Amino acid sequence: MDVGPLVAAEAPAAAVEREAERLFTALMHVDCRPGTRWTLEHCREIAPLTWQINRLKERRNAIVLAHSYVDAEIVYGVADFKSDSYALALEARNSDAEVIVFAGVVFMAETAKILKPRATVLVPDIASGCSLADSLTAPELRALKAEHPGAAVVCYINSSAEVKAESDVCVTSGNALRILERLPERRILFVPDRIMAANLQRDLRARGSDKQIFSSAGTCLVHDQFTAAGIAEERARFPGLYVVSHPECAPEVTAASDFVGSTQAMMDHVRDTDAPYFMMLTECGLVSRLQAENAGKRFIGSCRLCPYMKLNSLAKIRDVLVDPAPDQVIEVDVEVARAAKVSIDRMFDLAA
Ligand code: 13P
Ligand code: SF4
Repeated sequence: MDVGPLVAAEAPAAAVEREAERLFTALMHVDCRPGTRWTLEHCREIAPLTWQINRLKERRNAIVLAHSYVDAEIVYGVADFKSDSYALALEARNSDAEVIVFAGVVFMAETAKILKPRATVLVPDIASGCSLADSLTAPELRALKAEHPGAAVVCYINSSAEVKAESDVCVTSGNALRILERLPERRILFVPDRIMAANLQRDLRARGSDKQIFSSAGTCLVHDQFTAAGIAEERARFPGLYVVSHPECAPEVTAASDFVGSTQAMMDHVRDTDAPYFMMLTECGLVSRLQAENAGKRFIGSCRLCPYMKLNSLAKIRDVLVDPAPDQVIEVDVEVARAAKVSIDRMFDLAA
């Protein structure tokens, strides 16, 4: 593809300064490093790169979809859309772009490719896996299905395309409970997150349902780190602390939280809630987004880093737009994609 001249060209100084000011307006309330906020100087350092990426996007009819966990300079510098897994999947489905760069993790990019097979879907780093998606293979799911005949097979979107292809319906953190309630089956095989399965089982019981959930052994290596004891300690240190957690956290953690929801629901809820301090039990990128969009709200240092999400960088996004390596171009086997799309489309139907 012909992107040569732009790669070689220096960004015009005036354009770079305007870009630095745009970035600074978005990032000034965000920690650049722990305890250090973004400055105009920091923004001037990255502005040539974000300027270049934004021009490359125009040239290639490309968009960047960013999960809220990736670094703030990606989210506010080059992303065309930022949200949770569900909204990002919808955005990919509805996009007319020829190229989708997915700044997130590989299962999200695979989902985009399944929904938009004619688009070129690129990932900045093919090693951006997910401990949940990597925890279960399709043959392992087939073995579980044989152990639970007749159960509805529900996969969390944090799963491979092959696992989605073996499932009856896909769900995200934002719609799992609603979809499980709407399924006719009483017995549900929910994979691959055993912790989310336990949260869902408790929530179904609390709503008077007698549905029974079986699961596999996966966990999220980020959300698995939070404990109810940690919440109790911080509540003692910060009176009025408001605790917000993701449903990948252990049931005793979600039970001890003031709000539980998908990453976008967490964003919306914090925006609409007044509290002296917030404790976010999730990935640190979400705290950066909250800082950017809620100046004045205070977040105690509770978040954790996802090593996979943190493999994304501006330099890798620029490079993949210029000259993607073969393994950065997401391909999904046609038959796998066809079967996986059935489970994803069913999610869109049942979530509506
Ligand atoms: P959300 O769908 O809530 O954004 O979650 C994705 C994820 O990977 C959380 O760890
Ligand atoms: Fe996967 Fe957890 Fe990282 Fe989300 S935070 S991408 S679930 S490892």
